[in-house]
Amino acid sequence: MLKEVIATRYVTPLREGGSLPGLVEADDFGTYVMKFTGAGQGRKTLVAEVVCGELARRLGLRVPRLVTVELDPVLGLGEPDQEVQELLKSSGGTNLGMDFLSGALGFDPLAFDVGPEEAGRIVWFDALVNNVDRSWRNPNLLMRHGELWLIDHGATMIWHHNWPGAQTSAARPYDASDHALRPFEPDVRSAAAELAPRVTEDLLAEVTAQIPEAWLAGEPGFETTDALRRAYAEPLLARAAAVHERIQGVR
Ligand SMILES: Nc1ncnc2c1ncn2[C@@H]1O[C@H](COP(=O)(O)OP(=O)(O)OP(=O)(O)O)[C@@H](O)[C@H]1O
Ligand SMILES: [Mg+2]
Repeated sequence: MLKEVIATRYVTPLREGGSLPGLVEADDFGTYVMKFTGAGQGRKTLVAEVVCGELARRLGLRVPRLVTVELDPVLGLGEPDQEVQELLKSSGGTNLGMDFLSGALGFDPLAFDVGPEEAGRIVWFDALVNNVDRSWRNPNLLMRHGELWLIDHGATMIWHHNWPGAQTSAARPYDASDHALRPFEPDVRSAAAELAPRVTEDLLAEVTAQIPEAWLAGEPGFETTDALRRAYAEPLLARAAAVHERIQGVR
């Protein structure tokens, strides 16, 4: 289970984010980047954040700690901004929070250097989860104290938008030609040798167990949320062994 906190104050929107993520304070005195269930992209985006974030972390990549944030829509009443007010009002219940990395800078491929091993691990991971949102235009990588952090895994696992076609979709290649780390000669073969054996059924069960129940309930085609958790694990398990052979755009 992810740690559960309760939002106590909405601080400010993070204007760069398409889904209007905001900064909130919580009852544990933490400051979190909050992503809302009421945002246009809906709760599947949040499921993807949890599955990918928790998997990446277990594979040794840096991801800010994730929590669930309980929101009382009353918090929105005092918001002067109409758009923010609507978002808070429509996001009562369980939302996603992530540790706010204060002082982190957006990754700039021209200003920072990344080694081929680390670049390889990240590109390989993005191929595994089919992340289409780590391009040089929008890297979704933060840099702090010389360390890279992965954020924003909402646009991954495209197959969860169409479960009947999941197997076919998950068999497709991954195009890394626009990837933010492509210039760093990512060593995806070494990454695959190191990481693929770690993506086991047990690990994926542990990862998918972190998804809040409320975001899974009522998915058409699934009688239980456990079946849906397994459906999240299956394509990742199937892809892990050979996805590196299907990465296009890197050597
Ligand atoms: N944990 C964090 N710590 C510090 N800053 C963060 C954190 N998470 C996000 N940000 C900042 O907020 C911005 C938006 O976050 P994120 O990319 O996750 O949102 P999004 O709505 O999915 O964005 P988009 O779809 O526009 O890429 C990031 O580019 C980054 O500048
Ligand atoms: Mg982003």
